[in-house]
Amino acid sequence: MPALVLIGAQWGDEGKGKATDQLGGQVDFVVKFNGGNNAGHTVVIGDETYALHLLPSGILSPGCTPVIANGVVIDLGVLFQEIDGLEGRGIDTSRLVVSADAHVIASYNRVLDKVTERFLGSRKIGTTGRGIGPTYADKMNRVGIRVQDLFDEKILRAKVEGALELKNQVLVKVYNRKAVTVDSVVEDLLSYVDRLRPMVADTGLLLAKGLDDGKTVLLEGGQATLLDVDHGTYPFVTSSNATSGGACTGSGIPPNRIDKVIAVIKAYTTRVGEGPFPTELLDEDGERLRANGHEYGTTTGRPRRCGWYDAVIARYATRVNGVTDFVLTKLDVLTGWDKIPVCVAYEVEGKRFDEMPMTQTDFHHATPVYEYFDGWTEDIRAARSFEDLPKNAQFYIRALEEMSGAPFSSVGVGPDREQTLELRPLV
Ligand code: GDP
Ligand code: IMO
Ligand code: MG
Repeated sequence: MPALVLIGAQWGDEGKGKATDQLGGQVDFVVKFNGGNNAGHTVVIGDETYALHLLPSGILSPGCTPVIANGVVIDLGVLFQEIDGLEGRGIDTSRLVVSADAHVIASYNRVLDKVTERFLGSRKIGTTGRGIGPTYADKMNRVGIRVQDLFDEKILRAKVEGALELKNQVLVKVYNRKAVTVDSVVEDLLSYVDRLRPMVADTGLLLAKGLDDGKTVLLEGGQATLLDVDHGTYPFVTSSNATSGGACTGSGIPPNRIDKVIAVIKAYTTRVGEGPFPTELLDEDGERLRANGHEYGTTTGRPRRCGWYDAVIARYATRVNGVTDFVLTKLDVLTGWDKIPVCVAYEVEGKRFDEMPMTQTDFHHATPVYEYFDGWTEDIRAARSFEDLPKNAQFYIRALEEMSGAPFSSVGVGPDREQTLELRPLV
C-alpha cells in the first residue's frame, strides 16, 4: 500500500492526530504537507497526552520517519520548542526530516497576522495569530524566505531586505507599529541554523525513493476541507490547501501514486474562529456537546462552536477529496441524547439544496433540514467492536455512512489509542 492521504472532512479538530498516530505503527513515513503551528493535534497514549502543532503526529511512532514537507510553513522557534518538549518526555525525534523548500515564518509575519486581524474588526477571520496567512501570502508573492535560504547568509539578508522594504511601510504607515530591522530578523533566523542543518533534505526525492522501494507513506493534513483556501468557506479559511490535492503539491508526490484518501470526521461538527456554520447550536445542546467533547482549541484554547453532523458537508468532502474511507470519531460524546438530529440537506429561501450551495451568500443563509435518530444511554467507551455498541448507535453509524458517500472504516469511542472499533482494515 504505497501512499495514503489523511485529511479532515469538516472544519478541523476531527481527531486527525489520533488517527495518524494509530496508523503510525504501520507506515514508514508520516508527512505533514500543509499549514504550520496553527494546527493542534492531541494524541493520548495510555496515561500520556501529547499536544502536537508543527511536528507530524507520526513523531510518536518509533520506527516511522516524520517529514515536514515543502508545503508547510515553519516557525523555527516553535519547531525546536516542540522537539525539546518531546525529547524531555523521552520521545526520540532524531529521525525528523525537514524540506529545504518549506517556507519559514519570520517575526514580521506573526506581527502582521495579529495587527491585520485587529484592523479588520468585525470582518476578522479569527486566525490563530501564528503568522500563517502572511507567510503563505509572501510565498505566492515570491518574497518568502525558505529553509534553504538560511544556508547562505548573503541571500538571506537580501531576501529579508526585499521583504521588509514594503512590510515596514505597511507596519509603520498603516498600522502605526515600529519598523522591523533586517538585522534582527536575520539574526533570529540564523540562531537556528546549526540545529536545523542536519535535518534538512530534498524530501520530495526521499519520499519518491521510499515509494520506489515499496515503503508506505502517510500524508497527514492539517486543518480540513472547509478550511481549504480553494474549496472551503472562503474567506473564513486557512491559507493553504488542506484537501487531498494539497498532499501532492505540498509533498512532491504525484496524484497517481496516491492509493487511499482517509477522511476523519466527527460524529457531530465543530468550528473555531469566524464564518458560516449551518448546524451550529447556540443553545443547551451546543453547550453539552462542548462540555462532553472537551471542545476547546488545542492551539488557542478558544471554545469551539458546536453543532450536529452535517451530511451535506460529508458528501462534499467525499467529492472534493476522493475519500475512500471515513474514520468516524467521538461517537461517545453523543451518548445520552434522546434524539440525535442529522442535517441531510439545506434550505435557502424555500429552496432545498442536497449539495453545497454554489455561493457563499447562500451558504450563509442555509438552514439545516434535519432527520432525527434514536439515541442511546449506555456508556460505549469500553466497546471494542461494532457488535458491542447499542443497536441505536449501530443504526446511527450505518445511517451516516449511507449519507456520506464512502465507507466508514473505524469508529472512535474515546481519546485513547485503544478506544477504537475497526470496521475494515485501513492499511
Ligand atoms: P485534530 O486537530 O484533528 O488532530 O484534532 P484535535 O486533537 O484538535 O481534537 C480532537 C480531540 O478529540 C482530541 O482531544 C482527541 O484526544 C479527542 N478524540 C479523538 N478521538 C476521540 C474519540 O473518539 N472520542 C473522544 N471522546 N475524544 C476523541
Ligand atoms: P487542526 O489541524 C481548527 C482556523 C482558525 C481560523 C482559520 C484561519 O488542529 O484541525 P489561520 O491561523 O490558519 O490563518 O486561521 O482557520 N484553523 C483551525 N481550526 N483546527 C485547525 O487545525 C485550524 N487551523 C486553523 O481558527 O478560523
Ligand atoms: Mg486540532
